[in-house]
Amino acid sequence: MSATQSGKIMTAIDIGTTKICALIAHVESPGKIEVLGIGHHPSKGLKRGIVVDIKTAAESIRSAVSKAEEESGIKIAEATVGLSGAHIQSFNARGCVPIKYQDVDENDIERVLESAKNIPIPEGREILHVIPQYFRIDGQETVQESLGMHGSRLEAQVHIVTGAIWSAQNIIRACELAGITTNDIVLEQIASAEAVLSASERELGSAIIDIGGGTSDFAIYKNGRVIHSKVIPVAGTHFTHDLALCLNLPIGIAKELKHSHGSVSSTAKLDALKPIQEVLPPKYQSQEIDLFKIIEILNPRATELFEFVQDEIIQYKLAPLMRSGLVLTGGGSLLRGVETLAQDMFNIPTRVGMPHADNEEIERIVPRLLKTPIYSTAYGILLFSARGGRGELSEGSSKSLFSRVFKKMKDWIYDFL
Ligand SMILES: Nc1ncnc2c1ncn2[C@@H]1O[C@H](COP(=O)(O)OP(=O)(O)OP(=O)(O)O)[C@@H](O)[C@H]1O
Ligand SMILES: [Mg+2]
Repeated sequence: MSATQSGKIMTAIDIGTTKICALIAHVESPGKIEVLGIGHHPSKGLKRGIVVDIKTAAESIRSAVSKAEEESGIKIAEATVGLSGAHIQSFNARGCVPIKYQDVDENDIERVLESAKNIPIPEGREILHVIPQYFRIDGQETVQESLGMHGSRLEAQVHIVTGAIWSAQNIIRACELAGITTNDIVLEQIASAEAVLSASERELGSAIIDIGGGTSDFAIYKNGRVIHSKVIPVAGTHFTHDLALCLNLPIGIAKELKHSHGSVSSTAKLDALKPIQEVLPPKYQSQEIDLFKIIEILNPRATELFEFVQDEIIQYKLAPLMRSGLVLTGGGSLLRGVETLAQDMFNIPTRVGMPHADNEEIERIVPRLLKTPIYSTAYGILLFSARGGRGELSEGSSKSLFSRVFKKMKDWIYDFL
């Protein structure tokens, strides 16, 4: 991040399993963001959101960043980076402290959040986010803001996201090898939600599933905060592999076929599609492949993915928290019929979301190129850092606490490097 005459230059890097996307933007305020450079490059050296070959991953990051630098004419040194992967685990925790001087002050809030964090974390994991959900004073009604309230005992409920230390380290190391210092890390579904959920959806209670290449990232928002999150190890590449295996096609051709004719529901609009044989190389045209067969192969995988989500909803009694609806995003949400299937399975309004500007934010123009679910995370990372990182917090004191939590997180990451 560097200062310009008015505002700052900020960079977001989404390191996905299938593509890396770097965005360089001029940020005057969270509502006034101008994207100056967009760079994307196929992602190599990552599997299910995890770096498996650090040198190759670094080269892909460098390529994406270089393209964004060329387009914007700005050389960047640091960025906010997204983190995902099947190693991410989240849970809710509670803290409780006496209020020191009867009226809740910043120190009390800091202490109650620290006490909520004070739970055993398995070795090799660290806390990535601590997101306050609500506060309660002397066992009374829950409140979103507690600063200045009167009482003797302060409780806080928080959502804690933990990740494997080595995974965050590898992402940071890969960026470093690409010449970029990581100045913040954000969980990918928190970033995607920033980009696709409206303020009222986040307030009233909505769910998001970012169906990527390697993982599907699920989160629930209510009262403007993350209530629940979960990384599910089923996503776009599984659909491609299923087609490749069942139809005996090379992976590359199966992926093309998925993009051109993939569907998980027979009620999706399929009539305008070209004949399948036209998209297959001559060698494979003798195969009998029809849309019905493709749906038969892809539907069980999509059903499996949503069943994972449904199990989570049942286990944690989440249904009442997502009444405003479900938003699907990520490249996997472009698969025909996923919206219909999800709507049928969850029985709530479902839509596919992509980066957008809220009505009140007319100065935040989203470039046409980014208006696809594929770039929700990258654009969301940008919004997240434009809002000052750790952006879910509205209490001033908590914000500084969060900067410190992140600093601590950075320290442990660097300690291990
Ligand atoms: N038109 C389309 N129809 C169906 N699937 C699509 C389409 N376009 C892209 N995809 C799929 O979307 C997936 C990639 O999505 P995305 O770019 O969101 O993933 P990623 O961010 O690289 O991965 P992850 O978030 O899991 O690390 C791929 O499996 C790709 O085949
Ligand atoms: Mg992604």
